[in-house]
Amino acid sequence: DTDRSACAISRVYRGTFIHSTHKSAVQILEDALLGVNTEGKIAFIGKGEELHKLTQTFGFSPAEVTQLTQNEFFMPGMVDTHIHASQYSYAGTALDLPLLQWLNTYTFPVESRFKDLEFANKIYTQIVKRTLRNGTTTACYFATIHTDASLLLGQIANDFGQRALVGKVCMDRNNAVKHYKEALQESQEETCRFIAELLHKKYPLVKPVVTPRFALSCTGALLRQLGAIAKNNNLHIQSHISETVEEVKLVKELFPESDSYTDVYHKHNLLTEKTLMAHGCYLSDEELDLFRETGASLSHCPGSNFSLCSGVLNVRNVLNHKVKLGLGTDVAGGYSASMLDAVRRTLDASKVLTIQDPEHDTLSFEEVFRLATLGGSQALSLEDQTGNFEVGKDFDALRVNVAAPGGPIDLIQFEEPKIMLEKFLNLGDDRNIVEVFVAGRKVVPFTEPAE
Ligand code: GUN
Ligand code: FE
Repeated sequence: DTDRSACAISRVYRGTFIHSTHKSAVQILEDALLGVNTEGKIAFIGKGEELHKLTQTFGFSPAEVTQLTQNEFFMPGMVDTHIHASQYSYAGTALDLPLLQWLNTYTFPVESRFKDLEFANKIYTQIVKRTLRNGTTTACYFATIHTDASLLLGQIANDFGQRALVGKVCMDRNNAVKHYKEALQESQEETCRFIAELLHKKYPLVKPVVTPRFALSCTGALLRQLGAIAKNNNLHIQSHISETVEEVKLVKELFPESDSYTDVYHKHNLLTEKTLMAHGCYLSDEELDLFRETGASLSHCPGSNFSLCSGVLNVRNVLNHKVKLGLGTDVAGGYSASMLDAVRRTLDASKVLTIQDPEHDTLSFEEVFRLATLGGSQALSLEDQTGNFEVGKDFDALRVNVAAPGGPIDLIQFEEPKIMLEKFLNLGDDRNIVEVFVAGRKVVPFTEPAE
C-alpha cells in the first residue's frame, strides 16, 4: 500500500556517525546503523548489534547495508548561513579595501553584470557546485537586485539538489554605481514578483528570503515595506548589521531616531524569529538582548571580517546572550567558499580574542563543529529539517574519508573518531568528502542536470 511504500527504507549505512545534539557538541556513534527512507528522511539510527531486529522492524535485508571503512565517518552537511553567490567571480581577489570602498569599487560593478542571464547562469552554476563539493548542504544566498537572475539561482540550487534560501537583493539609496540601484516602488514590486515566482515553482528545498542589503543601502520606507512583505508571507529575512565602525557611524547619522543599528531593523519590523543578520562585530550587549528577545539570529563571517579588516566578533559573548548563531563564508568578502575555512577562521578569531585577553574562554573545535552544522540550522529556523542525525530529519550528510587517496591528510594508524573529526576540520578539504547527500539524494559526485 502507498502508506508503507512512502516509509520504505531506501538505504542503510553502518559505521561511525558524528553529529551535535543540544546536550553535546560532539556525539560519536560507533558501529551505528542509519536507515534513510524513500522520502530522504532518517528512518532510524541504532546500534550495529541491533541489525537483526532493525531488518525486521523496517523491512530491509542485511545485504543492502553499506559498510563504511575504518577511516570513514558520516557527519551532518554544513550550513553556510551567509554567502553572496553573485560575488563568486572575484573570490580570492580584491581584498585590499575597507567594506564601503570595497562595495563601490569591486562589488557593485560586478553585481550589476547579473542583468545578463548568461553570465548569471555561469557564475551561479559554479558556486552551487563548488559549495556542494565542499560539503555545504544548506546555503543562505544573496543574489543581486535582478529578479530573473535571482530566480535562476533558485533553479540551479534545485537542479543540483542543494537546500537553499535565495534572496533578491533590495537597495534604493547610496550607491556610487549609477546602474546598480532600484527605485523604492520597483524594489518592492520586484521583491513580490520574485517571491511569487519562486514559490510557484514548488522547489522542495529552495525558499525565498527577503533581503534588504543593509541599512545604508535602503530608505526607511523600503525597510518598512520589506518588513511587511516578510510578515504577510511568513518569510525569512536576511541582511548585514554592525560589520564595521564606519558603517555603524553612518547608520547613526542616517537614522537619528533609532537608538542603535539593531533598533533600526527592529523599528522597521525586520527582526523576527526568521531573521538572520550577518557580522554583528560591534553589537552592544543591549542589542544582543534585542536579538534574543525577537528570536533573530547572527551569522558569524570571520573570513570576511579578517579580509576586509572589519572586526572580530566575540562569539562567546553572543552565545552567553543566548542568541542563535551560525557560520558564514560571506564570499567574496571572505575569499573561500568552503565552510571548512569558516570553521578554521572561527577558531582563529576566538584565539585572537584570547591573545588579547587571556581570560577569554576560547571556542573549542567541538563547539565550532556544532556552529557549522546544528547551529546554522537553528539560525535559519531549519532545525526541524536538518542539522544533525535525529530520526525524522532529512538525511543531509557528508561521507568523509580522512585518509582519502591523494588527499591532504596522512594517517600513520587508525585514529579514534574524535581525532578523525578534528583532523578533517583542521586539515581536510573536498578530497576527503567522498559523497554528499541532501534530503537523501546523492548530490556529490554530481549527476549533471539534463540540458
Ligand atoms: N554590507 C552590505 N553589502 C555587503 C556585501 O556585499 N558584503 C559584505 N561583507 N558586507 C556588506
Ligand atoms: Fe555579506
